[in-house]
Amino acid sequence: MSTETFSADWLSLREPFDAAARAEAAVRLRLGARLDALRPPAGTPWRVIDLACGTGANQRWLSPHLQGPQEWLMVDHDDSLLRRVPDPASGVAILRQRLDLMASLETLPWHAAHLVTASALLDLVGTAWLQRLVAACASARVPLLLALSVDGRHLWQPRDPLDEEVAALFAGHQRRDKGLGSALGAQAANTLLPALRKAGYSVVQARSDWRVNGLRDAAGPYLLKSLIDGMADAAVEQDAGQAAAVRGWQARRRDLATTTRLRVGHVDVLAWPR
Ligand SMILES: C[S@@+](CC[C@H](N)C(=O)[O-])C[C@H]1O[C@@H](n2cnc3c(N)ncnc32)[C@H](O)[C@@H]1O
Repeated sequence: MSTETFSADWLSLREPFDAAARAEAAVRLRLGARLDALRPPAGTPWRVIDLACGTGANQRWLSPHLQGPQEWLMVDHDDSLLRRVPDPASGVAILRQRLDLMASLETLPWHAAHLVTASALLDLVGTAWLQRLVAACASARVPLLLALSVDGRHLWQPRDPLDEEVAALFAGHQRRDKGLGSALGAQAANTLLPALRKAGYSVVQARSDWRVNGLRDAAGPYLLKSLIDGMADAAVEQDAGQAAAVRGWQARRRDLATTTRLRVGHVDVLAWPR
């Protein structure tokens, strides 16, 4: 088992691409109207639990969609990320809690929450952990918004002959245990949806794909290079015998970063008790 760490730089590089992807998904989810229907009674602030909050990107994106006063419990096991969660605008209070979601998931205040949310978390977790999450939420009848779960699609333009092989090695690496059980990787949303329905939830999902354009987006080439390096390192760790071929792919892809377009498949899921 390895505990994966996430750099604040990587989280900040991806934040605008996450935000654009979520804005597209929000329309298809009819997120505004559906959140409005889940709103707590007048005079009560939204109480939200953000699982694996990193530096707070999920809160920054979601707070304006909730509207009104809010109290966020921001949970992560990485203190260096938690300390970087900035204080939000007035009307939104946050509490930072350092917690290992594997060891202590059930200790969170599920019954006090109006919404449980996470972004870019589910690929790291295993089936048993997902079932624990669903059980905790179902017992409190609390809605969930789980954003930006990867679904395994990497659509490169232009293509490279090694794209599929690197993607397969990367997917294998993604399924390693990162501290939350044998990771589901791209299968997380497919596993979550039936579990939620079985637990009495209505569920909607929408694609929240990253669309990265190395020519058009100022940060595009940086995100692409970071992603290419991460995929190549994971692929080599997965099969050292492929190192030379993978490093060749990495070099070709880096050279093309300013003219590459890439779509990375993600899914957003909103669920509420029936
Ligand atoms: C890809 S980052 C996403 C961060 C943030 N939600 C965002 O969208 O920017 C995954 C987060 O999961 C956290 N994490 C991983 N394993 C964890 C665990 N066992 N307990 C708590 N947090 C964990 C990491 O520290 C990291 O902040």
